[in-house]
Amino acid sequence: MTKRVAILISGRGSNMRALCQAMASPDFPAKPVLILSNRPDAAGLDYARAEGLPYTVIDHTQFESRAAFDAALHDALQKARPDIICLAGFMRLLTPGFVEKWAGSLINIHPSLLPKYPGLKTHQRALNAGDTEAGCTVHHVVPEMDAGEIIGQSRVPILPGDTVETLEARVREAEHQLYPACLRKLVES
Ligand code: GRF
Repeated sequence: MTKRVAILISGRGSNMRALCQAMASPDFPAKPVLILSNRPDAAGLDYARAEGLPYTVIDHTQFESRAAFDAALHDALQKARPDIICLAGFMRLLTPGFVEKWAGSLINIHPSLLPKYPGLKTHQRALNAGDTEAGCTVHHVVPEMDAGEIIGQSRVPILPGDTVETLEARVREAEHQLYPACLRKLVES
C-alpha cells in the first residue's frame, strides 16, 4: 500500500525535492502528503507551489515556546496522517514529547558519517580533522540530537584542495541519492 510521507523543511529544500521527484515515479511505494516549513520564506516552498504539492507554513517565531510550536506541528501532521515524516534541513530542535509521539515514523538526513560530527559545521570539522572521506547519514530521530538508529549512509572522498563549499556540494549530491533510497527501504520493510 502507498505510504503517506510528510517532509519538514526550513530552507533550500533540495532533499525535499529529491524525495518528491523519487516519489513521483509510479513504482515508488510512497507519496508526499504534506511539505511543512517553519519559515515562510523557505526557498523549498517555491518547488512545492510549482508542483502543486500540499504545503503549509508554521512560523516558529509566532509561538511563545518550543512546546507550543511543537503542538501546532503535531496538529498539522495529525491532519495529514503521514506514515513517515522526513526531516530535510529542518532547523528546529524538536521536544522529546513530540519525538516520542512520532517515534518510529520520524527520520532525518545529516551531512556526516554519524556518529562522527553530530550538530552543525560538519564539513568544516571534517576538513579541520584532515579526514579523507565524508558523507551523509539517514537515521531515525530520537530525543538526543543526531543519535538515532542508522538507516543508511553514503560515503564520498575528501579531495586535495576541497573547501567547505566543494565538499558540501559533493555530499549534497550523495544526499539526493541516499534519502530516497532510505525512504524506499523503510517503506518496504
Ligand atoms: C542537508 O545538508 C541536510 O543533510 C541537512 O541540512 C541540509 C539541507 O539542505 N540536515 P536542503 O534544504 O535539503 O537543500
